[in-house]
Amino acid sequence: MASPAAGVVVIVGSGLIGRSWAMLFASGGFRVKLYDIEQQQVTNALENIRKEMTFLEQSGSLKGSLGAQDQLSLISGCLNIQEAVEGALHIQECVPENLELKKKIFARLDQIIDDQVVLSSSTSCLLPSQLFAGLAHVQQCLVAHPVNPPYYVPLVELVPHPETAPATVDRTHALMRKIGQSPVRVLKEMDGFVLNRLQYAVISEAWRLVEEGIVSPSDLDLVMSDGLGMRYAFIGPLETMHLNAEGMLSYCDRYSEGMKHVLKTFGPIPEFSGATVEKVNQAMCLKVPADPEHLAARRRWRDECLQRLAKLKRQMPSQ
Ligand code: NAI
Repeated sequence: MASPAAGVVVIVGSGLIGRSWAMLFASGGFRVKLYDIEQQQVTNALENIRKEMTFLEQSGSLKGSLGAQDQLSLISGCLNIQEAVEGALHIQECVPENLELKKKIFARLDQIIDDQVVLSSSTSCLLPSQLFAGLAHVQQCLVAHPVNPPYYVPLVELVPHPETAPATVDRTHALMRKIGQSPVRVLKEMDGFVLNRLQYAVISEAWRLVEEGIVSPSDLDLVMSDGLGMRYAFIGPLETMHLNAEGMLSYCDRYSEGMKHVLKTFGPIPEFSGATVEKVNQAMCLKVPADPEHLAARRRWRDECLQRLAKLKRQMPSQ
């Protein structure tokens, strides 16, 4: 267990993502201060975390070497930002995705933090150059973008501002590894970072294939869940190329002309509207009706699948 003297982690915003971060940092033995503007949000968050950790312990999926009770005792709520950040080693901002709100919070934090703490945003799509422009502590700032649900999907994209100190990225990388996450370094900021660019490329072609009547929406999803996705849970697209021939050079030698031929037939950016959205929506609602109960039940099922997959990935030797 990391000793509390090693530092404290502050979570700013105790919603869906803030709660997950709090659980992850506590699993690594860190003391966590959960800050929010709303007392009720903090109370709900602490209660929700208690239930979640108890469930995870019972199902054998609690992360870290401490029991649920010990992890829970590391997390406390806080409504005073100045008190919260005192002596902190890392601040993880998790307020709603609104540039003006986030900038306001970073400007406030910039006034009260020391020169040591790392200031990190969970933003899904705002660029570091927008978020951290003009801050005195810009060298200590970066984006650490998690994937939902972070407890079961360990990837974290680390995206620096052009002025972020390399040591800030290194420290955050080490911290993420310490709490069992899987950090990647995005070397330069870019719209969509890496994960969403890949995701949107897939969504875009999926949409065109359905729009052009090549495949039904439900079969399209099967191509991913029972095809590509099976491999992608363990190896990425580049390693897939490497393994699908006698190495990468052989793959490019054999398949590059064929790939380029197919890629030239890709269409323009879809509108995501009109008849196609009706068709896709109808197919999705047939499978999962779009009311809160059915959606919540399906999300629970998805999270259980991810939980078991995470367990399998931990058990598999990395070779
Ligand atoms: P959320 O709406 O569940 O939680 C936001 C929390 O921030 C609420 O508890 C709210 O009371 C609090 N808050 C609002 N103003 C505040 C302020 N001035 N100071 C302190 N707390 C304040 O939002 P969620 O989904 O947790 O998202 C947070 C961030 O994480 C966003 O930037 C989002 O883009 C990012 N993210 C979200 C993912 C998701 O799937 N929900 C995935 C990856 C990143």
